[in-house]
Order: sequence, then structure tokens, then C-alpha cells
Amino acid sequence: MESESAEGEARVQSEHDIVLARQLVRRLTQGLAFSLVDQTKMVTAASELARNTLIYGRGGTMHWHRRSESGRQGLTLTFLDSGPGIPNLELAMSDGWTSGNGLGMGLSGARRLVNEFAIESQVGKGTRVSITRWK
Ligand SMILES: Nc1ncnc2c1ncn2[C@@H]1O[C@H](COP(=O)(O)OP(=O)(O)OP(=O)(O)O)[C@@H](O)[C@H]1O
Ligand SMILES: [Mg+2]
Repeated sequence: MESESAEGEARVQSEHDIVLARQLVRRLTQGLAFSLVDQTKMVTAASELARNTLIYGRGGTMHWHRRSESGRQGLTLTFLDSGPGIPNLELAMSDGWTSGNGLGMGLSGARRLVNEFAIESQVGKGTRVSITRWK
């Protein structure tokens, strides 16, 4: 059963995949007994990153990893795409900057909702965003 695995991967290639990814993150955080508020923070961050993966990254994957380290438990999500990459990460991470029609709040908002946030991107190669929320 999926919820018993320590890690797994989900496609992010359509709007429906984003719905499924949100549901998966909700279940995973419930399984970790996150508070309702913390569940929603992780689901919201995942939703923003999945949408970026789909829209800007032209689709990719969400890898999930249930963490258990020195007595604490958490969830790490990694969004990976082979899209165009981000030329200026500092700009992309700033509030209100968008190259498209968004609000430019997805990355910066997601960063505030989690405990750990890492982004790597190479122009012409793709983007990887990794977030962790500890219980
Ligand atoms: N996976 C990605 N691949 C390429 N570019 C990306 C990716 N994710 C984000 N970006 C770039 O970073 C910018 C900022 O992303 P962010 O999510 O903060 O805002 P947005 O998606 O433009 O708007 P919002 O998320 O508020 O609707 C995007 O406009 C886009 O240029
Ligand atoms: Mg966005």
C-alpha cells in the first residue's frame, strides 16, 4: 500500500495530476499526524510548486519522502522538471515577480510555508525544488 512506503513518485503532467498530487500530500501529512494547519501549509506549497512544474517546467515529477530522523518526523517533496530553467533565481524567488501571468507569489510563498527550501535550476536543463516540513 502506497501510504506504507517511505517514498514514491507522482507525475505532474496535467491539471488533474496537480489535484492528485495535492490529495497525495494531504494523505501523507495526515499519515504523519501533522496538525490540520500544517497539512494545509504543505498542501499549499506543493500545489504552487506542482503548478510551476506543469506551467513553466512543461511537466515533471513530484518525489516524496517520509522522513524520520533523530526522533522527529517530516515530509520532503522534490519537484523536478526538464524545462527551460530559471535564468535569475534571486529574481524568481522575490515576491511579486512573474515571467508569465501569475502573481509571482508561488515560490516565495512556498518557502514561507515550509521549514526547508532548496532550489536549483540550470537554463536549458531544468529545475529542482525541494521542500521539507517537520512535524
Ligand atoms: N519550474 C520552473 N521552471 C522554469 N521557470 C520557473 C519554474 N518555477 C518558477 N519559474 C519562474 O519563476 C517565476 C516565479 O515563480 P512563482 O511561482 O513565484 O510565480 P508565478 O508562477 O509567476 O505566479 P504565481 O505562482 O503567484 O501564480 C515564474 O514566473 C517563472 O518565470
Ligand atoms: Mg507559480
